[in-house]
Amino acid sequence: MKNNENLQNKRIGIIGAGPSGLAQLRAFEALKNQGESIPEIVCFEKQSNWGGMWNYSWRTGVGKYGEPLHGSMYKYLWSNGPKECLEFSDYSFDSHFKKPISSYPPRPVLFDYIEGRIKKSNARDYIRFNTTVRWVSYDEDTRQFTVILDDLKLNRTYSEVFDYLVVASGHFSTPNMPYFKGIETFNGSVMHAHDFRGADQFRERNVLLIGSSYSAEDIALQCYKHGTKSVTLSYRSMPIGHDWPDGITEVPLVTHFDGDKAFFKDGSSQEFDAVVMCTGYQHKFPFLPDELRLKTKNNLYPDHLYKGIFFNSLPELIYLGMQDQYYTFNMFDTQAWVARDFMTGRMQLPEEAERRTDINIWLERKNRLKNSFDNVDFQTGYIKDLLALSDYPHFNLDKVSEMLKEWLRDKEENILTYRDKSYQSVVTGTMAAEHHTDWMDELDDSKERYLHGAEEEELIPENL
Ligand SMILES: Cc1cc2nc3c(=O)[nH]c(=O)nc-3n(C[C@H](O)[C@H](O)[C@H](O)COP(=O)(O)OP(=O)(O)OC[C@H]3O[C@@H](n4cnc5c(N)ncnc54)[C@H](O)[C@@H]3O)c2cc1C
Ligand SMILES: NC(=O)c1ccc[n+]([C@@H]2O[C@H](COP(=O)([O-])OP(=O)(O)OC[C@H]3O[C@@H](n4cnc5c(N)ncnc54)[C@H](OP(=O)(O)O)[C@@H]3O)[C@@H](O)[C@H]2O)c1
Repeated sequence: MKNNENLQNKRIGIIGAGPSGLAQLRAFEALKNQGESIPEIVCFEKQSNWGGMWNYSWRTGVGKYGEPLHGSMYKYLWSNGPKECLEFSDYSFDSHFKKPISSYPPRPVLFDYIEGRIKKSNARDYIRFNTTVRWVSYDEDTRQFTVILDDLKLNRTYSEVFDYLVVASGHFSTPNMPYFKGIETFNGSVMHAHDFRGADQFRERNVLLIGSSYSAEDIALQCYKHGTKSVTLSYRSMPIGHDWPDGITEVPLVTHFDGDKAFFKDGSSQEFDAVVMCTGYQHKFPFLPDELRLKTKNNLYPDHLYKGIFFNSLPELIYLGMQDQYYTFNMFDTQAWVARDFMTGRMQLPEEAERRTDINIWLERKNRLKNSFDNVDFQTGYIKDLLALSDYPHFNLDKVSEMLKEWLRDKEENILTYRDKSYQSVVTGTMAAEHHTDWMDELDDSKERYLHGAEEEELIPENL
C-alpha cells in the first residue's frame, strides 16, 4: 500500500447505501485495487439492505422501526429508460448476466446488477445497516462533522466524528403532497405515488392521477396494463401529450373536489374511485442544520453545489445524485470518483469565488434549456465535465446522449411499445436481446421469469 499522509487518521462518513452511496464505496475500492491507501470509511444505511430505491419494500408509511419509509418503487416497475444509458463503465451488463439481456429490465434485475458489482468487494463491511443519521453538526475549529446516529435494532443513540461527509440519501422519497379544495370529502383512496405499490387494486376502477411527469406516465401505463377501467391524467403546466390508448385521457388541473367528483380547469368534471398524486418529491434532509442543508427543487443543476457535488460554502460536505436524472448510475459514479479524489487530496478545488463563478455558468446554461433534447445535452455536458476530472473509465457519452434522444422519440412514437426496443451498449458493443414477451403482455416481473422464462417455455413439448 502506498502511504498518503493526507489520509492519516481521516474519516469519511457516507449517508445512504443506494446507488450513489455504493458508487462512493466502489470509487474508494477502485483506488485500493490500484495499491493506494484509503481513509477510514463508514456508510450509514437506515434500511436493512443496500440498493436504496431499488430495494423494494411492500411497506408504506413507516418501516419496521418506525422510520419514514424510503422506498417509492412498486411491483411491476420496469426501467423507464434503456439500461444502456445507465450502465456502469467499469462493470458491464454482459459481465454480470453472462448473456445479452433486453434494454428495459424490471426492478429485481436492476437490483441484481447493482448489487452484483458491489458484492465483488468487501464493501458490506463498511456499511452499518439499520442505522439512521439523525443529526449533523460542524465544528469550525476542529473542521469536523459530528454525526448523531440511531442504531434502530438496538434502540441506541450515539455519535461519531468525520472529516468529510457524503450525503447520498436520495431525493425521490419525501412526497410533495398538494392540497385541492374539497379533497377531504372524497370517499375513495387518496395516496401519493410514493405509497403506490401496484395497480392491481385499481382493476375496474376509475382513477385520477395528478401530475404529468414520469410517475404519472408510468402509473397510467401500469393501470392500463393491469385492467383499470379508466385513467385520467390531470396536468398543471403541460400535458404529457402522448398518443394515449383508449382509456387514458389528459385534462387540465383539478380545481376542486365535491365528494367523489373532481372538477377541472376546462370546466369538465368526473367521478373517480381513487386519486394518486404523482406530484413529485421534496429534497428533504431532516438531519442537516440550516447552514449545511441543500435547499432546492428537483432540477438539473441545484444551486450551491460546485461541479454538482461540493457544497460551496463547505466543500468537505459532499452531495451525490441530487440532480434530476436522465443519467443515473453512471452519473453517480462519475460524481463519486471526483469526490473521492478531492477527499484523498488527489484533486484540489479552486477558491470559493472561482467555484461560485463556475456554478453560475452552469446555472445560466440551465436557464436557457427549452426542451427535453436540450436537457439531455445539458446533463451529457455536465458528465463530460466530470469525466475529465478523474480516472473513472471513459464511455462514449455522445452515443449515450443519442440513445436518450432516441428513447424520447420511441416514447412519442408509441408509449405502449417503447420498452420493447433494443439498444447497443457503449461499454461492450453488445446489442440488447429482445425480451421473450412484449412488455404490455408481461405481467410477471420476477428475475427468474425475465432471465429464464422463455427458455423454460421453449422446453415444454408442443403436445402438452
Ligand atoms: C418510482 C421510481 C422509479 C425509478 N425508476 C428509475 C429507473 O427506471 N431508472 C433509473 O435509472 N432510475 C430510476 N429512478 C431514480 C432512482 O432514484 C435512482 O435510480 C437511484 O435509486 C438514486 O440513487 P441514490 O443512491 O441517489 O438514492 P436512493 O436510491 O434513494 O438511496 C438513498 C439511500 O439513503 C438511505 N437514507 C436516506 N436517509 C437516510 C438517513 N437519514 N440515514 C441513513 N440512511 C438514509 C435510504 O434508505 C436509501 O437506501 C426511480 C425513482 C423512483 C422514485
Ligand atoms: N421506472 C419507472 O417507470 C419510473 C416510474 C415512476 C417514477 N420514476 C422516476 O421517479 C423520479 C420522479 O418522477 P416524478 O414524476 O415522481 O417527479 P417529477 O419528475 O419531479 O414530476 C413532478 C410532477 O408533479 C407535478 N406537480 C408538482 N406539484 C404539483 C401541484 N401542486 N399540482 C399539480 N401538479 C404538480 C409537476 O408538474 P409541473 O410540470 O407543473 O411542475 C410534475 O408533472 C424520476 O426520476 C422518474 O424517472 C421512474
